[in-house]
Amino acid sequence: MALEFCSSTYLNGRIVPTELACLPADNHAVNFGTAAFEAFRLYPTPNGSKLLGLDLHLNRLRLSMLSLGLSPMEPEEIIKALWQTINQNNLQQGYVRLLVYPNGNCLALDPSPFPSAALVMAWRSDSSGFLPPLTLGISHIRRPSAGSTLARAKISGFYAVEAAADRNAKKQGFDGNLMLNPDGTICEMTGANIFIVKDSVLYTPILPQSIDGVTRRLVIEFANTLNIPVKEVPLPLGDLMVADEVFVTGTYHQIRPVSAVGGQVLSSPFPGPVTQLLQERFQKMLDNPEDEIASRWLTGTVLEKFTPKPVAQQAYQIRSAELTDIPGIIAGVSSLLAEIRGIPEFQLPSTATNVCQRVIEGKYPGAIFVANPQGDNHSILGLITLTVQEAIHVESSYVLIQELWVHPEHRSQNIGDNLMQAVETYSRQQGISRIEVCLPTHEFPTFYSTYHFYQKSKFHDFGPRMRKMLE
Ligand SMILES: Cc1ncc(COP(=O)(O)O)c(C=O)c1O
Repeated sequence: MALEFCSSTYLNGRIVPTELACLPADNHAVNFGTAAFEAFRLYPTPNGSKLLGLDLHLNRLRLSMLSLGLSPMEPEEIIKALWQTINQNNLQQGYVRLLVYPNGNCLALDPSPFPSAALVMAWRSDSSGFLPPLTLGISHIRRPSAGSTLARAKISGFYAVEAAADRNAKKQGFDGNLMLNPDGTICEMTGANIFIVKDSVLYTPILPQSIDGVTRRLVIEFANTLNIPVKEVPLPLGDLMVADEVFVTGTYHQIRPVSAVGGQVLSSPFPGPVTQLLQERFQKMLDNPEDEIASRWLTGTVLEKFTPKPVAQQAYQIRSAELTDIPGIIAGVSSLLAEIRGIPEFQLPSTATNVCQRVIEGKYPGAIFVANPQGDNHSILGLITLTVQEAIHVESSYVLIQELWVHPEHRSQNIGDNLMQAVETYSRQQGISRIEVCLPTHEFPTFYSTYHFYQKSKFHDFGPRMRKMLE
């Protein structure tokens, strides 16, 4: 399963370009590993894409946060963040990771004074088929003991142990490592739970310190419906070596056969008959939304509950501004400045109309383009203003975009793209090949959406501009 990292990420209330989804260097979780996290799988089904085991993941997250002392977060906020990330990346199937972290600094160890914030990353997968069999080493690093109340929590800091054990496995040529409990019984695989089949009975370790896997629970449910007996027991290593079948379960691995442990090849074929039966039951759940298990385990989007109904698409035209457009242009630029500053209203000086008029009349090098509804020359749905500049460092003229605004009810209709197209056409006609824009800085609420728009339009970063006003 190839996974491709998606270009949009949710960070503390906003969708941002993935490369800009950064936490401050002094963030508590960055320094102390205090993020609680979950990984979800999104599956395509005949009834649209669905998340598997959402409620169980959220419950485990709640327990991880509770044991760490993180401030609580509303489940609705988390669910909305997950679906916003999925929708923004137009993801049909893939892997989604959620981190809830204390949004504060590392001057003290206690994370509880800080509000919690969410980070959601997504990866697109190219297939939902089962993964090939894997080999396991036997790790000399063990899971933290059950004496710690955190032992079963999914907390980023704990995964340093898993990461070190996984590194050791790879160094020895294994795909993963078998983690043992402090008493030498089997705990789990690095990043997955483990099952063995012996004489048609399914065995899996009890949970003193392994992760209470969502997929583990699902497999136990499948086994119950298939009348396969399941026993949760302390599992000695010797039992695994003589098992008829061994497989691991997890959000990433799904149901995945194990072909060898510690260099000893297990009995073949892979997958064995019970493993295969469980895989088929899994697939049946995905293929049949009416399936009883599917209706309880698969959850579709909830975003329509939160998203305002889209305004009917309106046909529009892009044209050069005329003098009669001036009041509409001034109103649009005022709205733009209010939105950038996050304030209800912004009053432009009365002399702004003079500048507007000079550009429209061609007395100042530049242009203004507006978007009108088809057949209505008066309403302005969007506008772009530009001036032609000369600069020594550019060695010639360039176009500087001064303002770009689209009425909030008419966004997502490509008006911005088409206004930008008009600027490109204008620039070419003038023999100018360079277009620049100044962005608001990170502190402004519109920074990310503005940045994202220009990035999509193939603008590249070349450093921020600054300005000094002369007295
Ligand atoms: C250490 C560990 N155990 C087990 C699991 C399996 O849990 P789930 O099925 O919920 O993904 C995971 C999954 O990430 C894990 O990291």
